[in-house]
Amino acid sequence: MPKLVHNADLSGRNTFRMKVRCAALVEVDSEEDLLKLDFASLPQPVMVMGGGSNLLFRGDFPGTVLHVGIKGVEQCSQQGDEIFFRAGAGEVFDSFCAFAAEKGLWGPENLSLIPGECGASAVQNIGAYGVEAKDIIHSIRAWDTQEKRFVDIPGAGCDYGYRASNFKTVWKGRYIITYVTYRLWTSPHPVLDYGGLRKSIPAETELSPGLLRDTIIGIRRKKLPDPEETGSAGSFFCNPVISREHFERIVETARNDNGAEYEVPHYVVGEMIKVPAAWMIEQCGFKGQRLGGAQVYQNQPLVIVNASGEASPDEIIGLENRIISAIKEKYGITLHPEVEHI
Ligand code: EPU
Repeated sequence: MPKLVHNADLSGRNTFRMKVRCAALVEVDSEEDLLKLDFASLPQPVMVMGGGSNLLFRGDFPGTVLHVGIKGVEQCSQQGDEIFFRAGAGEVFDSFCAFAAEKGLWGPENLSLIPGECGASAVQNIGAYGVEAKDIIHSIRAWDTQEKRFVDIPGAGCDYGYRASNFKTVWKGRYIITYVTYRLWTSPHPVLDYGGLRKSIPAETELSPGLLRDTIIGIRRKKLPDPEETGSAGSFFCNPVISREHFERIVETARNDNGAEYEVPHYVVGEMIKVPAAWMIEQCGFKGQRLGGAQVYQNQPLVIVNASGEASPDEIIGLENRIISAIKEKYGITLHPEVEHI
């Protein structure tokens, strides 16, 4: 049966640890449970939440928070070196990564230790170290709230982009994801070209999904706050993608600030250039800066943390706005939050 709690505390259900409540919290553990729900009788609006690791509640939520807690991973089929597994939307995504690495299967190893659940991986197209969820998502099973039936949506039809999908835009609110089917490989598919990954692996080492997973976990633990200790929602902003001309102006500003030889970190994306927001935030002097209980994380300034454990949404948003204004003024770029504001 669906579990319904009125006036529920959400502080343990959002990784920013905002002390907020919702009018109703509903937990379903199966598709049958979902069918038993009478949506019209629930406080409105109804929002679906996964692990709450990419959300910032601006205050109490007046409607219903629905969590699809379907667990489990099962093998579906195998074709050549492609092997398919279906995970429940409520399965912890990193548990799925660990499961794949233990079986020696390739695909999700670079996504190790990203907080959140499998359902959200398909909405947010989570990504790290040169791999995105879209690279391994075969299809998504979901309840279509418009047509009132379960549908299977191919990953290729979700219009996936950088932290973007149809679930966040044209389909927003329409589908309730129950399962995600991932396509993994039995043959080697290492992706080593992003950032310092290759450097972190000694030459001649025999690569395996387990080795890459352990390497990624090591890198992330050094840079990112431990979710057990410090509240945050991972990267707070998206990395901006700008024109070459705009990038040249940024290089000029950076060389005025740091000397004529200074190299601005960047990645070429087709005709455009992606500039790490972390670098701009650091250049603007925000590393470690605090506003009340909120703080720009020292080791990775793309992350805003609930440093005191008591930070309010207003303090997080205050720091966000200061960063956006400073970067707009210095570099002419408007940063967009990656974290969804509720
Ligand atoms: N940098 C600085 N100062 C710092 C830290 C970083 O200047 O203190 C610059 C460096 O030049 C560095 C660059 O920023 O090379 C990029 O940093 P990093 O490799 O840590 O990655 P990122 O672009 O800041 C993105 C994702 C992360 C993901 C990493 C690794 C986004 C919004 N974030 O961060 O994802 O783990 O790449 O692939 O794209 C998340 O989404 O929550 C998340 C943590």
